[in-house]
Amino acid sequence: MSKKNDSSFQQTLVLIKPDGLKKSLTGNILTRLSETKLNIVGARVTKVSRKLAENHYYHLREKPFYPELILYLQGKIHKKEKILALVYEGKNAIKKVRQIAGATNPEEATPTSIRGSYGRITTKGVYENVIHASSNEKEAQREIKLWFKPNEIIS
Ligand code: TYD
Repeated sequence: MSKKNDSSFQQTLVLIKPDGLKKSLTGNILTRLSETKLNIVGARVTKVSRKLAENHYYHLREKPFYPELILYLQGKIHKKEKILALVYEGKNAIKKVRQIAGATNPEEATPTSIRGSYGRITTKGVYENVIHASSNEKEAQREIKLWFKPNEIIS
């Protein structure tokens, strides 16, 4: 079977969120992610429009923290209005990246994970967890299309 027909061969989206950039964590985060031995097949720095942020977090639109979450992803809270988007590819990419990223809530995340090491909860109740990582295959495909044009992925 060729690698690309193997269902465990996946692509996953990673976003280094504005707090990650503001805290100069890019190098540390990329080093942690390199432990996965996955390949980076896409990378871009981009501003996050309101529409893009809302599309990305569509599944959370009813949550009380949603308005603050949208401002957070846009960088309005950290006055750092950009993110670094990456696509990682390889065997079990989604699970491998999620494991190193850690649990959504930085206080519950394993202390050595990226979110456990660098995340925090704000007084407004938003989890500033420095990184996004796709949660499953369907979401990964949806999100990659949202953040990248097909010709920006070099697989
Ligand atoms: P979610 O998609 O549930 O988790 P994950 O990022 O681990 O896939 O949530 C998206 C983001 O929303 C999460 O990274 C931080 C924020 N969030 C909160 O601020 N409070 C919450 O109670 C939850 C569940 C998420």
